[in-house]
Amino acid sequence: MANRVPEPNPVVLQSDQLYQYILETSVYPRESEHLKQIRDATATHPAAFFGTAPDAGQLMAMLLKLVNAKKTIEVGVFTGYSLLLTALTIPDDGQKENEGAFDFAFVDADKGNYLNYHERLMKLVKVGGLLVYDNTLWGGTVAKPEESVPVYKRQWRKATIEFSKSITADHRVEISHVPSGDGVIICRRIC
Ligand SMILES: C[S@@+](CC[C@H](N)C(=O)[O-])C[C@H]1O[C@@H](n2cnc3c(N)ncnc32)[C@H](O)[C@@H]1O
Repeated sequence: MANRVPEPNPVVLQSDQLYQYILETSVYPRESEHLKQIRDATATHPAAFFGTAPDAGQLMAMLLKLVNAKKTIEVGVFTGYSLLLTALTIPDDGQKENEGAFDFAFVDADKGNYLNYHERLMKLVKVGGLLVYDNTLWGGTVAKPEESVPVYKRQWRKATIEFSKSITADHRVEISHVPSGDGVIICRRIC
């Protein structure tokens, strides 16, 4: 049990019907066949909940377009839903190399290291670029008393709360905390 990967609820919207409505009316009809194939193939994986939620993916694609991202970096790949989404969204001359100034960073890895990733990425992402962090509401546990949360989820719940506080206090970035998927914090580097 000690080594169990903490499992969030896959989304924070606590109404299955409403979430299905969003997926079926706005997300799935626009999802590319390639992404659907990855999502279907991942559905039977024991850690299927790892995959970036399709609604959060749609938001991410919109952000990539809005900043005209060409150079992107991702931390936490799993079966590659968010990575393929990025590759399909950025222009053909876009790059996913780890060098130079990046337009866009997406972090969906070990929650205890988000602040470390943030410091590294603040050097890699250019001023005006975006840093996007996934699972920032950790299945809704961030708003629940610790004692009501299963023990195996508590460590990353705490890390997620601390990350949110630190990002809010970080005046090098503008932020928006969006309740899409499992929660997404969008940061725009301003200095
Ligand atoms: C939540 S999944 C990412 C899901 C991915 N965004 C998708 O859409 O399929 C987290 C991934 O981060 C990886 N990971 C965990 N700790 C990491 C670390 N320290 N460095 C890099 N990757 C890490 C895990 O192996 C896993 O593949």
